[in-house]
Amino acid sequence: MGKKIQRIGILTAGGDSPGLNAAIRGVGKTALNHGIEIIGFRDGFRGLVENRRLKLDKSTLAGILTVGGTILGTSRDKPHRMVIDGRTKDMTDVIKENYLEWGLDCVVCLGGGGTAKNALRLKQAGLNVITLPKTIDNDVAMTDATFGFATALDIATETIDRLHSTAHSHHRIIVAEVMGHRAGWLTLGAGIAGGADVILLPEIPYDVEKIAEAIKRRSRRGTNFSIVAVAEGAMSRDDHRTFAAAEKKLERAKSIHDKKEAKTELAALDVRHQGNTIRLAKQLEELTHLESRVTILGYVQRGGTPSAADRILATRLGSAAADLIEKGVFGVMVAARGDGTEAVPLEKVAGKRKIVPVDHSWVRTARSVGTCLGD
Ligand code: F6P
Repeated sequence: MGKKIQRIGILTAGGDSPGLNAAIRGVGKTALNHGIEIIGFRDGFRGLVENRRLKLDKSTLAGILTVGGTILGTSRDKPHRMVIDGRTKDMTDVIKENYLEWGLDCVVCLGGGGTAKNALRLKQAGLNVITLPKTIDNDVAMTDATFGFATALDIATETIDRLHSTAHSHHRIIVAEVMGHRAGWLTLGAGIAGGADVILLPEIPYDVEKIAEAIKRRSRRGTNFSIVAVAEGAMSRDDHRTFAAAEKKLERAKSIHDKKEAKTELAALDVRHQGNTIRLAKQLEELTHLESRVTILGYVQRGGTPSAADRILATRLGSAAADLIEKGVFGVMVAARGDGTEAVPLEKVAGKRKIVPVDHSWVRTARSVGTCLGD
């Protein structure tokens, strides 16, 4: 028999996501039922450094299932590169000392790919950690799904639905930018569900002439409006080549100087890319002679109450995490696998990203119903 687990910590890191509170409640209620005390740490990994706490008991866990955001607050702070008093420091040893001093047996980290990487670093430093896959982007490796995605998908779909009537009334192209970082799941799902005429994904670099041609074909058939769902990470073929070259340069860079140079180049490309949706809309207007408008969905996709699907997923992943902890299983992400869950070693998750395979059934479906994917 292993040591009886007495006290665990929990934190939420990275961008907030609908379902975080449902997951906190799932972990918390199940842990309390196992006789395990649970302490919430505020604002991601920073809470572990600065002792920002919230004791989680029956009353703090009550009434949060349906609430958006995270009652713990979040941040993108990394344990090994945290800004403290204006200086970037490695705080791993401080976290380790605090973990021991506070008598924690494990820290549950709710987050996406970045959080898995940070949790793995803490695992390598000797701490017990467990992660849950959360992100609206659905891009965490080794899990069927992440919580937050289903809600964001509903919101993005409803927005595309609403854009149809205004685009139709004004005979316009409306280019709707959807979140998702470098993965196209949200755009592809919402594009299919909302009936977008063009769907542009980071995984399929586009040719603007081909998009314009698809829109003109619709016009020739008498349909003078089009909805273009574009992922924030989607790129033209030319931009994609430039980005890929800069990324290769960074990969191959040996000296600190070369690394710095490659990173600066990538950062400049990132900044330039931020205006991509607006540039695309202008290009389409010029090529099709149809008026065009842009809608950037932005943070509404992450806000508000989680859908039923996300509440269920987050609750069952959270509850499974507490069950694993009680059994003394650590160093894993609790993945969604079919109707069940699976404990996947963090080494298999960290540093990997689940992007849309170009032959995925959703991609084939979109093509089958005549949607232009820009290629
Ligand atoms: O990872 C979730 C996400 O919303 C991405 O879709 C988006 O690219 C990013 O976070 C935005 O980050 P921030 O909240 O730091 O602006």
